[in-house]
Amino acid sequence: MQAETRLLTPETEHIAYAAMMLAQGRLVAMPTETVYGLAGDARNPSAVARIFEAKGRPSFNPLIVHAPDLATAAEIGVFHDEALRLATAFWPGAMTLVVPLREGSGIAPLVTAGLDSVAIRVPAHPVAQDLLYAFGGVVAAPSANPSGRISPTTAQHVAEGLDGKLAVILDAGPCMVGVESTIIGWQGDYPVMLRPGGIPAEAIEACLDTTLTLPAANPDRPAAPGMLSSHYAPRASVRLNANEARDGEFLIGFGEVAGDVTLSASGDLTEAASKLFELLHRADNTGKQIAIAPIPVRGLGMAINDRLSRAAAPRP
Ligand code: TXA
Ligand code: MG
Repeated sequence: MQAETRLLTPETEHIAYAAMMLAQGRLVAMPTETVYGLAGDARNPSAVARIFEAKGRPSFNPLIVHAPDLATAAEIGVFHDEALRLATAFWPGAMTLVVPLREGSGIAPLVTAGLDSVAIRVPAHPVAQDLLYAFGGVVAAPSANPSGRISPTTAQHVAEGLDGKLAVILDAGPCMVGVESTIIGWQGDYPVMLRPGGIPAEAIEACLDTTLTLPAANPDRPAAPGMLSSHYAPRASVRLNANEARDGEFLIGFGEVAGDVTLSASGDLTEAASKLFELLHRADNTGKQIAIAPIPVRGLGMAINDRLSRAAAPRP
């Protein structure tokens, strides 16, 4: 838990302080041209878990990674032709691109919800730029509001919703764009608008010289099955609330249930969230069926249970 939140103007020494907080795994509200983001080190699993905790998100949606420039973005994602064209045309700016995750990127699995794709954006706001360069890494940053509440376009909005849950709010006044970034991904070869946002579809279509497909099934361009499911699904079956492994099962433990591996031996839900996708992958790679210890439904446990119940749901 983080007690005191400092509301700071974006002078150089305050940005340096905020960057230091990020390096320590703490959270910073970062002004961007779209909305204020709740930023945490995208390579630090605990920092990313804290983002979900602070927002009180009932589920783990994949988060957008914010990079200072295209060169840094290309260390995290693989930019094919069209992605490169959009990045060159619209970055820095209110555009997010979902591209294949680059191997060895070091991004915490919770950021991508265990997917092998990653959403990346280069924000244009000078304070976001300065913070990213001062930090020297990349941050995961959803909008800086409690889950289910409206997105913050001023530092006061952030303070009203999240005071005490982050180290620093950098106050740079109201956001210019005021709505979130447009998210573009690809289904097979086709660009798809996953979320409308700050950059209009027409501008993107003009840049690519093609029509954008909406994620809703389009009869002319059927979506590749599973492309849009936003979470990693293990191949193995998943049994919940398991206190011990049955024959042929790999047990993921928590607290008193030791298991073959554990989400958190001490029963810490933030630690458990930070390890969830990594351990699901590891369990799946054993080729065994997966069993998982009971996880209490409080704090991040709600999101963990939401994710697990999806993983355990009968497959079509
Ligand atoms: O304007 C914005 O984009 C703001 C500011 C702070 O930059 N950020 C923002 O981030 O809205 P976030 O993390 O809330 O957006 C997450 C959304 C997810 O709900 C999902 O739609 C999409 O990004 N997303 C992220 N990773 C994805 C992936 N690998 N595949 C498909 N969609 C993804
Ligand atoms: Mg949001």
